[in-house]
Amino acid sequence: QQLKLSLEQIEKGGYEHFMLKEIFEQPKSIHDTLRGRLLVEEGIIKMAGIWDNLERLNQAQKITIIACGTSWHAGLIGEYLIEEFARIPVEVEYASEFRYRNPIISEKDIVIAISQSGETADTMAAIKMAKERGAFVYGICNVVDSSISRVTDAGSYTHAGPEIGVASTKAFTAQLTVLSLIALKLGKHNGHLSNQEFMRLITELDTIPQKVQEVLETTHEITKEIAKNFVDAQNFLYLGRGYNFPAALEGALKLKEISYIHAEGYPAAEMKHGPIALIDENMPIVIIAPKKGHYDKIVSNVQEIKARKGKVIAVVNKGDTQVASVADYVIEFPETSECFSPIIASVPLQLLAYYIAVYRGANVDQPRNLAKSVTVE
Ligand code: G6P
Repeated sequence: QQLKLSLEQIEKGGYEHFMLKEIFEQPKSIHDTLRGRLLVEEGIIKMAGIWDNLERLNQAQKITIIACGTSWHAGLIGEYLIEEFARIPVEVEYASEFRYRNPIISEKDIVIAISQSGETADTMAAIKMAKERGAFVYGICNVVDSSISRVTDAGSYTHAGPEIGVASTKAFTAQLTVLSLIALKLGKHNGHLSNQEFMRLITELDTIPQKVQEVLETTHEITKEIAKNFVDAQNFLYLGRGYNFPAALEGALKLKEISYIHAEGYPAAEMKHGPIALIDENMPIVIIAPKKGHYDKIVSNVQEIKARKGKVIAVVNKGDTQVASVADYVIEFPETSECFSPIIASVPLQLLAYYIAVYRGANVDQPRNLAKSVTVE
């Protein structure tokens, strides 16, 4: 028993939980996912799986992304990325829904399956169906040689390394990294992305591991402090727009999974169609508001929330004054292009969920009723 305990402690590398260790590994896991692929000096993205199937991918009638849980949230951001840079229509579906309806999928289609474990039963079944209908299936998996990585026609691994905590953290940001690479590479080769724009974006993408390192260092203590105020919260709202709408969904999921506090993510502009009715002095609202990305609209959302006495936790860019001046709590993150901002903004949301759960005494690495890999229906 004692030996087992100390082994686990060694594996945790001095961190109290695997989840915290994995949150802190993100600069490295993102860097590892970019390594050998993003060659800024040569001005290229090297990905054999994409290169070998370039024509097929760029001539796709549409791309359907299928996934579950956190991987599905990565898929939503993938949709924004691929549509913006490669101009190919993208749909994102829960694998469990896709497999039980009669989706319009043919040999002209590409299906991208995203799975950390590579073993999720619903995702696996959805892939089989897509293949039967002639679609070309591209996998984005973290676990090497997993079932999904073996049945897909081609793919790119995320190099996040083993993820032990049930709540996915570093696998998510690695998935966003791979999706960014794919979208930029497709856009470059199909001519929708100018060389100049491509160069600007890859130069920016190359700085992301460093910015994630920075956000870890600057927000760790702050999120820990903020978390103390919300130990007894019963509900949370997470709001974001554009690329940060799925980041809001993912932030809410993290909190739900490990702290058992009910949390919902919403596109900020949808607030007026329902969630605004819930806002009072007991409602904490996490709002992701980077400078690049509908900032002015978000400012007015924050004002609407404050007018109803909601408690605002604003996740804003460094040096922000406008949102910060009305928010109750402020978490700052370094500025980047809107398309990469979820990679950075997600990190303090992971920390916030982590510390709220820790203060509630929850078992963060193995939350009740959840499994790391869901291999049954
Ligand atoms: C489970 C895990 C989640 C994960 C989801 C999809 O619910 O607890 O963290 O996002 O499965 O898993 P996958 O391995 O396919 O990404």
